[in-house]
Amino acid sequence: MAVREIAPGVHAVGAVDWNLRLFDALIGTPQGTSYNAYVVKGSEKTALIDTVDPKFEEDLLKNLMRLGLGSLDYIVINHAEQDHSGTLPLLLEMFPAATVIADEKCRDLLLRLLLVPEERIRIVKDGEALDLGGKTLEFMVTPWVHWPETMMTYEREDGILFSCDLFGSHLATSELYADDFMQIRPAAKRYYAEIMMPFRASVRAALERVSALDLQVIAPSHGPLYRNPVLILDAYAEWTSDAVKNLVLIPYVSMHGSTAKMVSFFTDALIERGVEVQPYDLTRADLGEVAMTAVDAATIVFAAPTVLFGPHPAAVHASYLLSILRPKTKFVSVIGSYGWGGKTVQHLKETLSHLDAEMIEPVYVRGYPGGEDLAALAGLADTIVKKHEDVVPRS
Ligand code: FEO
Repeated sequence: MAVREIAPGVHAVGAVDWNLRLFDALIGTPQGTSYNAYVVKGSEKTALIDTVDPKFEEDLLKNLMRLGLGSLDYIVINHAEQDHSGTLPLLLEMFPAATVIADEKCRDLLLRLLLVPEERIRIVKDGEALDLGGKTLEFMVTPWVHWPETMMTYEREDGILFSCDLFGSHLATSELYADDFMQIRPAAKRYYAEIMMPFRASVRAALERVSALDLQVIAPSHGPLYRNPVLILDAYAEWTSDAVKNLVLIPYVSMHGSTAKMVSFFTDALIERGVEVQPYDLTRADLGEVAMTAVDAATIVFAAPTVLFGPHPAAVHASYLLSILRPKTKFVSVIGSYGWGGKTVQHLKETLSHLDAEMIEPVYVRGYPGGEDLAALAGLADTIVKKHEDVVPRS
């Protein structure tokens, strides 16, 4: 990524990863990502805020050269995850006078993950400030806004918040700013669902702190920056709120058509009752989209056949993923079909019990669903309608 000026003395110097399709060997990134790093140059001192994934160390070094930086005084590490800290060992060799700025927990992780020499690290506390000469960096320790050590850095004079993972998006783009927010919003929501949703309470607390700042620009460590911060702040206020929508998410898989028939009938039954439905065939679904739907859904109903002794592996994978992403979903259930036995319902109930959601009695049938089975699904749809009346605001 080319060097871009954000404010006098403040530049974006990170890298764009146009081709990344799987982040952390876990999360789909269909639109790539970026690893944003920033230089803040005061009249006395110069700081680099975060580094880049080591795959892109050359891009970062070239950008520092383009800025004519012969030395760095500080390297602020907001977050020890290697996509932001991984180039630190190289930078410490190249800039022997540079001091690493990190909070205490981040220091501990840098020692373990990157073998950074302890004497190169200066620990800062929440609210501490660092004067670079006309540019003041204020550190905000915000644990569990991805990892336990995460911190943000606020540059007071220009009102720029270097928010690290918070407000990021996995989006490779030549645009520095997210001025067309409606275009960026899906990527930002996907990022929230995949990265931030498990930490909703911590994110909400961080959001309150951030909202009290005089903010001109939010500069996250992935994706474009926001020079109209209210747009992303409002989106996060919605996603992190307790409010859910009159929406049922149905991740499903079917082998011989029985479970598919149940999903089809159940989907229609919900629609007829005025409930929005989003089914996803797990053999072809983008799990990022499943997670995005889970941000809003009042109810998740897993639909899976029994394979030998338990749930189809695609349902095991997706249910485990949702259980650790911890959406604010209020109700869960299971539907599906079996041939001769097995513990599918028990298995999925156990996985879904990690969500703070009420389990509605499953509808699990033997073989192809007949009239009584379809009636039971209609009953499940009726129950969901009643449950939603208690948790979904009336429009
Ligand atoms: Fe982008 Fe938690 O690292």
